[in-house]
Amino acid sequence: MHRKESSRERTEVLRIVHMPDPQLGFMEEFEASLCRLRSAVAVIGAMEPPPDRVVVCGDMLHETTPEHAALFKEAVRPVRSRLRMVPGNHDIPESDLAGNTRSYRTLYGADCWAEDVKGVRFLGFNTQALIYGDAEVRESQLRFLRTELSASREKRQAVLLAAHHPPFVKEADETDSYFNLPSGLRKEVLALCARSGVRSWLAGHTHVFIEQSYRGMPILTGETLVENFDKRPRGFRLLSFDTISGSYRYDFIPV
Ligand SMILES: [Fe+2]
Ligand SMILES: [Fe+2]
Repeated sequence: MHRKESSRERTEVLRIVHMPDPQLGFMEEFEASLCRLRSAVAVIGAMEPPPDRVVVCGDMLHETTPEHAALFKEAVRPVRSRLRMVPGNHDIPESDLAGNTRSYRTLYGADCWAEDVKGVRFLGFNTQALIYGDAEVRESQLRFLRTELSASREKRQAVLLAAHHPPFVKEADETDSYFNLPSGLRKEVLALCARSGVRSWLAGHTHVFIEQSYRGMPILTGETLVENFDKRPRGFRLLSFDTISGSYRYDFIPV
Protein backbone atom coordinates (compact mmCIF):
# COMPACT_ATOMS: atom_id res chain seq x y z
CA MET A 1 0.00 0.00 0.00
CA HIS A 2 1.31 3.42 -0.88
CA ARG A 3 1.72 5.87 1.94
CA LYS A 4 -0.33 8.98 1.31
CA GLU A 5 1.95 11.92 0.62
CA SER A 6 1.35 14.86 2.92
CA SER A 7 1.68 18.46 1.71
CA ARG A 8 4.69 18.79 4.01
CA GLU A 9 6.54 16.16 1.98
CA ARG A 10 5.55 17.39 -1.45
CA THR A 11 8.05 19.57 -3.25
CA GLU A 12 7.92 21.26 -6.58
CA VAL A 13 11.02 23.27 -7.27
CA LEU A 14 11.10 26.10 -9.77
CA ARG A 15 14.65 26.53 -11.10
CA ILE A 16 15.64 29.86 -12.55
CA VAL A 17 19.10 30.65 -13.86
CA HIS A 18 19.74 34.23 -12.81
CA MET A 19 22.21 35.98 -15.04
CA PRO A 20 22.65 39.65 -14.24
CA ASP A 21 24.53 41.87 -16.70
CA PRO A 22 26.30 39.74 -19.31
CA GLN A 23 27.29 43.22 -20.59
CA LEU A 24 29.48 41.96 -23.44
CA GLY A 25 32.53 44.18 -23.87
CA PHE A 26 32.54 45.75 -20.40
CA MET A 27 36.13 46.41 -19.29
CA GLU A 28 37.47 43.81 -21.74
CA GLU A 29 37.39 42.90 -25.43
CA PHE A 30 33.94 42.10 -26.78
CA GLU A 31 35.14 38.71 -28.04
CA ALA A 32 36.33 37.67 -24.55
CA SER A 33 32.89 38.40 -23.05
CA LEU A 34 31.14 36.67 -25.94
CA CYS A 35 33.25 33.52 -25.40
CA ARG A 36 32.35 33.51 -21.71
CA LEU A 37 28.65 33.91 -22.49
CA ARG A 38 28.87 30.94 -24.87
CA SER A 39 30.55 28.91 -22.09
CA ALA A 40 27.78 29.90 -19.66
CA VAL A 41 25.13 28.80 -22.16
CA ALA A 42 26.93 25.46 -22.57
CA VAL A 43 26.95 25.01 -18.77
CA ILE A 44 23.22 25.80 -18.65
CA GLY A 45 22.57 23.38 -21.53
CA ALA A 46 24.23 20.58 -19.53
CA MET A 47 22.31 21.24 -16.30
CA GLU A 48 20.31 18.30 -15.00
CA PRO A 49 17.48 18.85 -14.39
CA PRO A 50 17.35 21.70 -16.89
CA PRO A 51 16.32 25.07 -15.46
CA ASP A 52 12.74 26.16 -16.07
CA ARG A 53 13.82 29.66 -17.04
CA VAL A 54 16.99 31.63 -17.73
CA VAL A 55 16.58 35.28 -16.83
CA VAL A 56 19.01 37.96 -17.96
CA CYS A 57 18.50 41.00 -15.74
CA GLY A 58 19.57 43.65 -18.22
CA ASP A 59 22.76 45.10 -19.69
CA MET A 60 23.05 42.43 -22.34
CA LEU A 61 25.74 44.50 -24.08
CA HIS A 62 28.00 47.27 -22.91
CA GLU A 63 27.43 49.23 -26.12
CA THR A 64 24.30 48.33 -28.02
CA THR A 65 24.74 47.95 -31.77
CA PRO A 66 22.68 45.74 -34.09
CA GLU A 67 25.82 43.67 -34.86
CA HIS A 68 26.62 43.02 -31.20
CA ALA A 69 22.95 42.31 -30.43
CA ALA A 70 22.91 39.72 -33.23
CA LEU A 71 25.99 38.02 -31.74
CA PHE A 72 24.41 38.06 -28.27
CA LYS A 73 21.21 36.50 -29.59
CA GLU A 74 23.13 33.86 -31.50
CA ALA A 75 25.10 32.95 -28.34
CA VAL A 76 21.92 32.46 -26.27
CA ARG A 77 20.02 30.65 -29.03
CA PRO A 78 20.42 27.18 -27.39
CA VAL A 79 18.36 28.39 -24.38
CA ARG A 80 16.07 30.71 -26.33
CA SER A 81 12.80 28.99 -25.46
CA ARG A 82 13.48 29.41 -21.72
CA LEU A 83 15.16 32.81 -21.95
CA ARG A 84 13.56 35.95 -20.49
CA MET A 85 15.15 39.39 -20.46
CA VAL A 86 14.54 42.77 -18.89
CA PRO A 87 16.21 45.97 -20.08
CA GLY A 88 19.09 47.72 -18.33
CA ASN A 89 20.57 51.17 -18.75
CA HIS A 90 22.96 49.92 -21.44
CA ASP A 91 20.05 48.43 -23.42
CA ILE A 92 17.73 51.46 -23.14
CA PRO A 93 19.93 54.49 -22.46
CA GLU A 94 17.90 57.32 -20.95
CA SER A 95 19.31 59.84 -23.46
CA ASP A 96 16.42 58.90 -25.81
CA LEU A 97 14.20 56.67 -23.74
CA ALA A 98 11.32 56.48 -26.24
CA GLY A 99 13.52 55.78 -29.28
CA ASN A 100 15.75 53.35 -27.41
CA THR A 101 12.72 51.49 -26.03
CA ARG A 102 11.45 51.01 -29.59
CA SER A 103 14.88 49.69 -30.63
CA TYR A 104 14.98 47.38 -27.60
CA ARG A 105 11.62 45.85 -28.52
CA THR A 106 12.81 45.29 -32.07
CA LEU A 107 16.05 43.66 -30.91
CA TYR A 108 14.88 41.67 -27.89
CA GLY A 109 11.06 41.72 -27.62
CA ALA A 110 8.80 42.91 -24.80
CA ASP A 111 10.37 45.08 -22.08
CA CYS A 112 7.88 43.84 -19.48
CA TRP A 113 6.12 40.50 -19.34
CA ALA A 114 4.39 38.03 -17.02
CA GLU A 115 3.77 34.29 -17.20
CA ASP A 116 2.90 31.30 -15.01
CA VAL A 117 5.72 28.82 -14.45
CA LYS A 118 4.96 25.82 -12.21
CA GLY A 119 2.10 27.80 -10.70
CA VAL A 120 4.29 30.80 -9.83
CA ARG A 121 3.76 34.19 -11.48
CA PHE A 122 7.08 35.20 -13.03
CA LEU A 123 7.12 38.84 -13.89
CA GLY A 124 9.69 41.11 -15.56
CA PHE A 125 9.51 44.86 -15.63
CA ASN A 126 11.41 47.81 -17.02
CA THR A 127 13.09 49.89 -14.31
CA GLN A 128 14.64 52.20 -16.92
CA ALA A 129 11.11 53.31 -17.85
CA LEU A 130 10.15 53.48 -14.19
CA ILE A 131 13.09 55.71 -13.25
CA TYR A 132 13.67 57.79 -16.36
CA GLY A 133 10.30 57.79 -18.14
CA ASP A 134 8.00 60.78 -18.23
CA ALA A 135 4.86 60.70 -16.08
CA GLU A 136 2.92 58.70 -18.67
CA VAL A 137 5.64 56.08 -19.23
CA ARG A 138 6.25 55.71 -15.49
CA GLU A 139 2.54 55.36 -14.82
CA SER A 140 2.20 52.63 -17.45
CA GLN A 141 4.94 50.57 -15.71
CA LEU A 142 3.31 51.13 -12.32
CA ARG A 143 -0.10 50.18 -13.74
CA PHE A 144 1.39 46.96 -15.12
CA LEU A 145 2.84 46.11 -11.70
CA ARG A 146 -0.33 47.04 -9.79
CA THR A 147 -2.56 45.02 -12.13
CA GLU A 148 -0.31 41.97 -12.10
CA LEU A 149 0.30 41.99 -8.37
CA SER A 150 -3.32 42.52 -7.43
CA ALA A 151 -4.37 39.60 -9.70
CA SER A 152 -1.76 37.36 -8.07
CA ARG A 153 -2.81 38.52 -4.61
CA GLU A 154 -6.42 37.58 -5.33
CA LYS A 155 -5.32 34.15 -6.53
CA ARG A 156 -2.90 33.83 -3.60
CA GLN A 157 -0.25 33.06 -6.17
CA ALA A 158 3.48 33.38 -5.39
CA VAL A 159 5.30 36.00 -7.49
CA LEU A 160 8.94 36.27 -8.52
CA LEU A 161 10.07 39.59 -9.99
CA ALA A 162 12.94 40.31 -12.37
CA ALA A 163 14.24 43.84 -13.00
CA HIS A 164 17.52 45.53 -13.76
CA HIS A 165 17.70 47.79 -10.69
CA PRO A 166 17.28 46.46 -7.17
CA PRO A 167 14.94 48.64 -5.07
CA PHE A 168 17.85 49.37 -2.71
CA VAL A 169 21.38 48.14 -2.12
CA LYS A 170 21.81 48.15 1.68
CA GLU A 171 18.77 49.68 3.39
CA ALA A 172 15.25 50.45 2.29
CA ASP A 173 15.58 54.10 3.36
CA GLU A 174 19.06 54.72 1.92
CA THR A 175 19.69 57.89 -0.11
CA ASP A 176 19.05 57.89 -3.84
CA SER A 177 21.97 56.75 -5.97
CA TYR A 178 22.83 55.43 -9.41
CA PHE A 179 22.23 51.89 -8.17
CA ASN A 180 18.79 52.04 -6.52
CA LEU A 181 15.24 53.17 -7.27
CA PRO A 182 14.55 56.80 -6.35
CA SER A 183 13.04 56.94 -2.87
CA GLY A 184 9.45 57.91 -3.82
CA LEU A 185 9.15 55.14 -6.39
CA ARG A 186 11.04 52.74 -4.14
CA LYS A 187 8.53 53.21 -1.32
CA GLU A 188 5.59 52.74 -3.63
CA VAL A 189 6.97 49.62 -5.33
CA LEU A 190 8.17 48.03 -2.07
CA ALA A 191 4.74 48.60 -0.51
CA LEU A 192 3.12 46.90 -3.51
CA CYS A 193 5.52 43.95 -3.21
CA ALA A 194 4.94 43.60 0.54
CA ARG A 195 1.14 43.71 0.09
CA SER A 196 1.29 41.07 -2.62
CA GLY A 197 3.66 38.63 -0.96
CA VAL A 198 6.35 38.82 -3.65
CA ARG A 199 8.77 35.96 -2.96
CA SER A 200 11.93 37.32 -4.65
CA TRP A 201 13.25 40.34 -6.52
CA LEU A 202 15.97 39.27 -8.97
CA ALA A 203 18.10 42.21 -10.04
CA GLY A 204 21.30 43.21 -11.80
CA HIS A 205 23.03 46.54 -12.31
CA THR A 206 25.17 46.69 -9.15
CA HIS A 207 27.88 44.20 -10.25
CA VAL A 208 28.20 43.20 -6.59
CA PHE A 209 26.63 40.26 -4.84
CA ILE A 210 23.54 41.17 -2.81
CA GLU A 211 21.37 38.89 -0.72
CA GLN A 212 19.06 41.26 1.10
CA SER A 213 15.57 41.02 2.43
CA TYR A 214 12.65 43.41 2.71
CA ARG A 215 9.74 42.28 4.88
CA GLY A 216 10.40 38.67 3.94
CA MET A 217 11.11 39.36 0.25
CA PRO A 218 14.67 38.34 -0.73
CA ILE A 219 16.41 40.84 -3.02
CA LEU A 220 19.06 38.96 -4.96
CA THR A 221 21.82 40.11 -7.27
CA GLY A 222 24.38 37.54 -8.25
CA GLU A 223 27.76 37.59 -9.96
CA THR A 224 28.07 38.78 -13.55
CA LEU A 225 29.98 37.16 -16.38
CA VAL A 226 32.17 40.26 -16.72
CA GLU A 227 33.54 42.67 -14.12
CA ASN A 228 32.38 42.21 -10.50
CA PHE A 229 33.21 45.27 -8.44
CA ASP A 230 33.39 43.17 -5.25
CA LYS A 231 36.00 40.90 -6.86
CA ARG A 232 33.68 37.91 -6.79
CA PRO A 233 34.49 35.29 -9.44
CA ARG A 234 32.62 35.40 -12.75
CA GLY A 235 29.56 33.25 -13.15
CA PHE A 236 25.84 33.16 -12.57
CA ARG A 237 23.36 31.89 -9.96
CA LEU A 238 20.71 29.21 -9.90
CA LEU A 239 17.64 30.12 -7.86
CA SER A 240 15.79 26.99 -6.70
CA PHE A 241 12.45 28.10 -5.34
CA ASP A 242 10.33 25.55 -3.49
CA THR A 243 6.82 26.41 -4.63
CA ILE A 244 5.26 24.56 -1.70
CA SER A 245 7.27 25.87 1.27
CA GLY A 246 8.45 29.17 -0.28
CA SER A 247 12.05 28.47 0.77
CA TYR A 248 14.87 28.94 -1.71
CA ARG A 249 18.49 28.19 -2.50
CA TYR A 250 20.70 30.55 -4.47
CA ASP A 251 23.71 28.64 -5.74
CA PHE A 252 26.73 30.11 -7.46
CA ILE A 253 27.88 28.51 -10.71
CA PRO A 254 31.32 29.65 -11.87
CA VAL A 255 32.07 30.14 -15.55
FE1 LIG B 1 25.77 46.51 -15.75
FE1 LIG C 1 23.21 48.66 -15.37
